[in-house]
Amino acid sequence: MKNKILVTGGAGYIGSHTCIALHEAGYEVVVYDNLSNSSREAINRVSTLIGQTIVFIEGDVRDDELLREVFASHEFFGVIHFAGLKAVGESVAKPLLYYNNNVSGTIALLEVMAEYDVKNFVFSSSATVYGDPETLPIHELSKRSCTNPYGQSKLAVEYILEDLAISDKSWNLIALRYFNPVGAHPSGQIGEDPNDIPNNLMPYISQVAVGKLDKLSIFGNDYPTVDGTGVRDFIHVTDLAQGHVAALSYLEQQISPEENCLNTAIAKQTSAKSGSVGFLPINLGTGKGTSVLELVTAFAEVSKQPIAYQFVERRAGDIASCYASADKAQALLGWQAKLSITDMCQDTWRWQNMNPNGYQAS
Ligand code: NAD
Ligand code: WQD
Repeated sequence: MKNKILVTGGAGYIGSHTCIALHEAGYEVVVYDNLSNSSREAINRVSTLIGQTIVFIEGDVRDDELLREVFASHEFFGVIHFAGLKAVGESVAKPLLYYNNNVSGTIALLEVMAEYDVKNFVFSSSATVYGDPETLPIHELSKRSCTNPYGQSKLAVEYILEDLAISDKSWNLIALRYFNPVGAHPSGQIGEDPNDIPNNLMPYISQVAVGKLDKLSIFGNDYPTVDGTGVRDFIHVTDLAQGHVAALSYLEQQISPEENCLNTAIAKQTSAKSGSVGFLPINLGTGKGTSVLELVTAFAEVSKQPIAYQFVERRAGDIASCYASADKAQALLGWQAKLSITDMCQDTWRWQNMNPNGYQAS
């Protein structure tokens, strides 16, 4: 059985946690990352946590020559493609960078995969492809629309994957649409390490709690929500990581239901038949919405630190509420999120406390 997985962007926040989950599930991992938004130290720590040196290749997914070398030297079952740029504001300022990195990068990778006949692919998509949802919870068939180049780049890749699946039935292409990933590994050794002042809520809150930032600006308190602040579906990054393991198990089982499934529990839960998966979009969320103020309160309770905040104007492009229907992931992958908002705050706080300067201090 081939159980080697190429993890692009595996040194990043979600990728590093997923490497651990993959190792624990019995997969062999090769990480490919250009370290444009991550550090070698994350890989070192993952190696320490799993007690085995991770195979790491520093490279860009747009470098098709290097990719060919990698595919020629390893026999992969499939690829999990995390590599991408993700800052919405930066994407508005630098759209070409985002389309080049996220769209051209994915095309380059898919072309090399096709050359080497590796056709199992798990793509990091995002709830951002749903734009401002018409109804909640958001189902996979909800309308897709995006308002910024980052979101457009994710949507463009989804369209490419759909067309690819139509053109050639031997591709198995899963797009996992993540909602709002937060939290850190329970060891406190790996977590989210924003380069600059964080754009996202949870790292901002934790940096206020640890005293690096003075106060949180809450963008709007006049939304039609429980307390006027935005509502999101926060999901623990280790739950998200398990979602990738479940997606791979599903692919293995679809391709060869009997022999190839590492996770027999999932094999039993789903009634798989041999054949291709085509293009399969799946939400990874908890199905529960939490408001900005509720998250601030939960974090203050867990950390026992006051979180100073002020209300300011709404942030351009923000929506009021966003949470997933997680039914498809449950039905097809046998996966559901297990960890609570308290767990998310506790693990973020442990990581923040143990690494006030992220990976830099070490
Ligand atoms: P991250 O920035 O921590 O990880 C992305 C990794 O990809 C980094 O290690 C970076 O160095 C690497 N990378 C970027 N461009 C590359 C390239 N051209 N070649 C090789 N490596 C490259 O981000 P993350 O939060 O771990 O997100 C992982 C994926 O999930 C991204 O595609 C992101 O768009 C998507 N996503 C993230 C979120 C979120 O809120 N974190 C939500 C939905 C989707
Ligand atoms: C959450 C809530 C803000 C910061 C983003 C991307 C999305 C996806 C996940 C990649 C909102 C409020 C935030 C702050 C605040 N990423 N907030 N003060 O915007 O839901 O999603 O990350 O795919 O594409 O857009 O996440 O954490 O930025 O914001 O009040 O300093 O917190 O207004 O209501 P968002 P977020």
